Amino acid sequence: MGPSRRAGGMKDKKMNEKRTHSCGDLRASDAGRDVLLAGWVQRVRDMGTLVFVDLRDREGLTQIVFGPERPDLRDEAKTLRPEFVVSIQGKVRLRAEGGRNPKMATGEIEVEASALTVLNTADVPPFVITDPLQASEELRFKYRYLDLRRPSMQKNLRLRHDAALAVRNHLSGRGFLEIETPFLTKSTPEGARDYLVPSRVHKGRFYALPQSPQLFKQMLMIAGADKYFQVVRCFRDEDLRADRQPEFTQIDIEMSFAGREDVFALIEGLMAEVFALTGQKIETPFPRLSHREAMDGYGSDKPDLRAGMKIRDLTEIAAGTDSEILMKAVGEGGCVKGFVVEGGGALSRTRIDKLNLRARELGGRGVAWIKRAAAPEEGLKSSLKMAAEGLRALWEKLEAGEPDLALVVADTEETALRVLGEIRRDFILERVKKKNAYAFTWVTDFPLFEWSDEERKLVAVHHPFTSPHPDDIGRLESDPRSVRALAYDIVLNGYEIGGGSIRIHDRSLQNRIFKTLGLGEEEAREKFGFFLDALGYGTPPHGGIALGFDRIAMLLAGEESIREVIPFPKTTSALCLLTGSPSPVSERQLADLGLKIKNSG
Ligand code: AMO
Repeated sequence: MGPSRRAGGMKDKKMNEKRTHSCGDLRASDAGRDVLLAGWVQRVRDMGTLVFVDLRDREGLTQIVFGPERPDLRDEAKTLRPEFVVSIQGKVRLRAEGGRNPKMATGEIEVEASALTVLNTADVPPFVITDPLQASEELRFKYRYLDLRRPSMQKNLRLRHDAALAVRNHLSGRGFLEIETPFLTKSTPEGARDYLVPSRVHKGRFYALPQSPQLFKQMLMIAGADKYFQVVRCFRDEDLRADRQPEFTQIDIEMSFAGREDVFALIEGLMAEVFALTGQKIETPFPRLSHREAMDGYGSDKPDLRAGMKIRDLTEIAAGTDSEILMKAVGEGGCVKGFVVEGGGALSRTRIDKLNLRARELGGRGVAWIKRAAAPEEGLKSSLKMAAEGLRALWEKLEAGEPDLALVVADTEETALRVLGEIRRDFILERVKKKNAYAFTWVTDFPLFEWSDEERKLVAVHHPFTSPHPDDIGRLESDPRSVRALAYDIVLNGYEIGGGSIRIHDRSLQNRIFKTLGLGEEEAREKFGFFLDALGYGTPPHGGIALGFDRIAMLLAGEESIREVIPFPKTTSALCLLTGSPSPVSERQLADLGLKIKNSG
């Protein structure tokens, strides 16, 4: 046995003397107690006769004092460096009056050390492990295990655990079974590209990682599982953003003999329980908006309802004014829409000018504004050249008040709504400072299909297993774009946190939908034959939903990116900086799989 092994053995023996407390436990009432703590050195302050060490673990920080009574220990303490792993024995004592720290949970006490064991040393970390962190995201991801040591990240890990536990308890308590579904499977279309896994045994064939367990959960309903859920990883090869990762977690739910109201009631109860973790009471039921109402009123299918700022249609009024810009848009079959920024009259000229840039970024031509002139007798001021009367008509229609700013866009309906919707959201993000204000809403009555410019064909807005609205089934072939879906999204603060639907349980209707989507009989059989067969064996009516767990955790934690609540996330270019994946593989592995790389660039 080499010397280092022996040293290790001694350390292990030391650790047999069990930790008595965590670094976040001790309070004034513990004074006089003998304790053993273990953790990481946050910092060492050498005051000459006294050395203070802040010891950190998952639960918090405790101040350790090495005093003149044990000069040997004190000298050893001086050699400690940040992130060394140590265990310390000692006695709890009250800090001197001036040394108390009310901001720290353990701020009233300190531990006077009587033994110190260095369990491990540490290299100099690439950043100081403290909140708030001053380090680039690149560095944080590369050394994620150090980043995660920060109290704020530990808090997020715990919150995520607590939320998952609340979900499992809530659903399990209502008769739902958590059932696992495969990762090595066949493509389930959810609108993104698949991650493929080549088969070694069956060369030239591929598994697809699931974009969601959609077909498996439906087959579980056919199997009689009745109420299913799963906290499950999904994989989608799509463009990434702050609220999108290539692998993410869904709370996937499906129920038999249930309708939309059952799903809504279940999810409202579940959200109330999960968001109670923030100490907030969530009001239920949640408001509901049809897809059309959401688009018209907020310019988004995921409206942020933390503020009003409702978009209104001004086309009719605009048509009667003398403004060239407005009339031109109306003449070209477009529209004029606007909304009011409360108190926005005081915004600076530069801020208002920036709105035009933003509008152009969003594919629009610009945004016009109207506000009160500084001198009341001068009436309204505007970037629109038009008679005072017209301005007043627009201002009144928008129900704008004295200190407000009215924003007006003239464009095609789609562009006007997009530009106003995004600008509205920018204002909300700027203004809603309170982190834990939660505005939930259901968005219902989505269209079943939409036109995809990229694919040059009709595609499913949700997925092709969504039931059409019974009143609209007759128009499936004659006017498919007018068919509504029995689909719904749940939206929180402008984020789509979930989506679901009542499903098709009738095989012939499923075949009609495939046909409308341009999927020939043969192709449908090749892709979904197993599922079409299953539908024929007594499928109960069923429906469900999948919640985006990462987005929910992000909103619970008051974070702005799901990367803050995913322990090991990928960058926006889908890289894992910690492990360096994706990475090349050996010729041997490729040969095993029967693959050849044509062009690695
Ligand atoms: P959908 O595709 O709407 O529905 O996904 C459900 C929810 O999952 C979250 N989500 C994501 N979160 C992080 N990163 C991503 N790349 C990502 N993609 C989606 C969103 C979304 O609302 N099978 C259907 C559900 C059903 O019909 O029951 C489905 O997957 O919050």
